[in-house]
Amino acid sequence: MADKNLKNEIEKRRTFAIISHPDAGKTTLTEKFLLYGGAINLAGSVKGKATARHAVSDWMEIEKERGISVTSSVLQFNYDGFCINILDTPGHQDFSEDTYRTLMAADSAVMVIDAAKGVEPQTRKLFKVCAMRKIPIFTFMNKLDRDARDPFELLDDIENELGIPTCPMNWPIGSGKDFKGVFDRRSESVVVYSDTQKGTKEGNAEVISLADKDKLLSVLGQASFDKLMEDVELLDGAGSPFDQEEVDAGMLSPVFFGSALTNFGVEIFLQNFLKMTSAPLARKADIGIIDPVEGEFSAFVFKIQANMNKAHRDRIAFMRICSGKFNAGMEVLHVQGQKVMRLSQPQQMMASERHIVDEAYAGDIIGVFDPGIFSIGDTVCAPNTKFAFEGIPTFAPEHFARVRQIDTMKRKQFVKGITQIAQEGAIQIFHELNTGLEEIIVGVVGVLQFEVLKYRLENEYNVEIRMDTLPYEHIRWIANRDIDMDKLTGTSDMKKVTDLKDRPLLLFINSWSIGMTLERNEGLELEEFSRN
Ligand code: G4P
Repeated sequence: MADKNLKNEIEKRRTFAIISHPDAGKTTLTEKFLLYGGAINLAGSVKGKATARHAVSDWMEIEKERGISVTSSVLQFNYDGFCINILDTPGHQDFSEDTYRTLMAADSAVMVIDAAKGVEPQTRKLFKVCAMRKIPIFTFMNKLDRDARDPFELLDDIENELGIPTCPMNWPIGSGKDFKGVFDRRSESVVVYSDTQKGTKEGNAEVISLADKDKLLSVLGQASFDKLMEDVELLDGAGSPFDQEEVDAGMLSPVFFGSALTNFGVEIFLQNFLKMTSAPLARKADIGIIDPVEGEFSAFVFKIQANMNKAHRDRIAFMRICSGKFNAGMEVLHVQGQKVMRLSQPQQMMASERHIVDEAYAGDIIGVFDPGIFSIGDTVCAPNTKFAFEGIPTFAPEHFARVRQIDTMKRKQFVKGITQIAQEGAIQIFHELNTGLEEIIVGVVGVLQFEVLKYRLENEYNVEIRMDTLPYEHIRWIANRDIDMDKLTGTSDMKKVTDLKDRPLLLFINSWSIGMTLERNEGLELEEFSRN
């Protein structure tokens, strides 16, 4: 039996990611969360705004110093008896595979949507990954202080675009300059809007019961009052009823309306979210399910970050602890490397500061110094146990380029550099099948990764490269490995390649070719991502 303290520590943990399309308000909402946790004194100081939306050019400078993206990878703070870990999923220009992988470490997700815009492309992509893992997804409909779309329409948008039923937990009364507050369905009361709380956690919003019609009318005014009464009637038919089991299974998204900037509806959202979301979830391994409380220490690597300075072997491996307790200095087994070792310089992020951790629990994220031995998806566990967690899928890159070194004498450094960068998971590399060409095809999820690759090869490996963009947009891994690649017939635009792990796959320019190829090769099975 696990000791009581361990159980308490683990059960109070909530580890989640905030997903959104750029500018929907993820940073602002995170800042307000931290404010409630007392981790910062005044919202706005989590990370420089410039960092969140830095231009491509200054990205290099920022990354060179590295501090920022390392420290913003995960934030930990305490609130209301919970220990909260927020995983950062950059949704900006630096959108990359890292973003997807980070979601593998989360137990739930908060989806921030700009109420004037509804579901946007990046939201859709990130949602897909959450849906694949069936983790609970909570929606914060943001920016009600600005003119917003009709709330019924916004719910339809989520249901139609993302295919997940919604359950509105509260309901907005107007928007923009007519925003009067939200109606809380559980308590049947109206929380009156005021923006006096902006940037602080002080000040209580006025709450009026729905039954107190006179007061409501005087505060809201006739038009808003009438609209609210009408909406309350319609609400029962809108969305789905609340069902915790459906939420847990990622099949129903509770929706909250509010305004992160003016700090309205944020704390109510946080409180409800913490109650509805789960403590660290059990994870699947090759020996079965690993229980977070009963199991001994175990973790998996979901992200590897290399320093941008010339000592490029200085890497940090980010691990999500899945079970038990971690003590600094303890011996662990690196399963894939088959080595018992001590994790060196384990670090954790508390708000914006990095510090060395002495202990950490299931649900926490630690960053450890990686002498170049870890790969994405690796498992570490107590030496007396031995198992591997399910692999982290390789996500489909969306941009491709042919890359070659300019100086042919530098072939060796080029191959070494590009392979190491691919091992870190920043890019994916492919070789053309049977062509014997000395070229490498690079695939990335976000185009910024091309620049990162060029910069790093030049600065860390001293290799200048040439990059020619390729028109491929679709990639499919071949699920049936026994297929004879030479005999496979596709369309003229199709390219046969292998990845870093020698798995065969196909590149296509358009989705029509995928259908044609499937038609022409009976029994062929194609997958959009590949499990390690
Ligand atoms: P992101 O991390 O999702 O990209 O979004 P971020 O929080 O940086 O917010 C993007 C912009 O939207 C910011 O404005 C921010 O102030 C604004 N914003 C966020 N939440 C709300 C809200 O509830 N209401 C309103 N009206 N605006 C909101 P900006 O002008 O780009 O930056 P700044 O000059 O305000 O810092």
